[in-house]
Amino acid sequence: MSDLFATQLHSTRTQLAPQACVLHGFALDVAGALLADVAAIEAFAPFRHLVTPGGHVMQVAMTNSGTYGWCSDRRGYRYDRHDPQGGEPWPAMSPAFLQLAADAAREAGFDAYVPDACLVNRYAPGTRLSLHQDRDEDDRIAPIVSVSLGLPATFLFGGFARADKAVRVPLQHGDVVVWGGEDRMRFHGVLPVKPGRHDVVGEQRINLTFRKVK
Ligand code: SIN
Ligand code: FE2
Repeated sequence: MSDLFATQLHSTRTQLAPQACVLHGFALDVAGALLADVAAIEAFAPFRHLVTPGGHVMQVAMTNSGTYGWCSDRRGYRYDRHDPQGGEPWPAMSPAFLQLAADAAREAGFDAYVPDACLVNRYAPGTRLSLHQDRDEDDRIAPIVSVSLGLPATFLFGGFARADKAVRVPLQHGDVVVWGGEDRMRFHGVLPVKPGRHDVVGEQRINLTFRKVK
């Protein structure tokens, strides 16, 4: 691949809706730093499979970084300042996390973005995330900034009702999806991750979703 082509590829943006876009390759330069921070988070607050209020064990393994962490159990979905496993505060968001989130948000048209939560998702091959809205945050305008690392995946980006048709968005290592403002409450999900091995991340996909909760 020529350098010119690589540059064009990395600077490509796909507009999904008026206030939603994919920033292709936007996190590539900092992927190593983000992954090192994920390792530090995981050492302190391990990935776990949460139980939904309906009693299902989630396929995606999760942990959190930031002031608030997203939790689910038989009592419901909520944000908590403390990890229910052990009771400690969630590990703080790293400078690399905060910088990337703010940079991607700005690139997508959202200035002065300061997330207070980062949900870290881990997808083993075959793992999917069914269509849902991110609706446990008080702030329903500030963007979600979602960073893909490792194995590729197909992201589903839908409308404001579960039954609305969703577009299929191929996501690669280093891609960032941002949706906020009028598009903040769109349904989204991830198709089952295909088996494979990523050179750096191995046989998994890691996703960081930054949110503003309060
Ligand atoms: C999410 O909706 O929380 C995760 C989306 C993704 O893994 O790309
Ligand atoms: Fe989500």
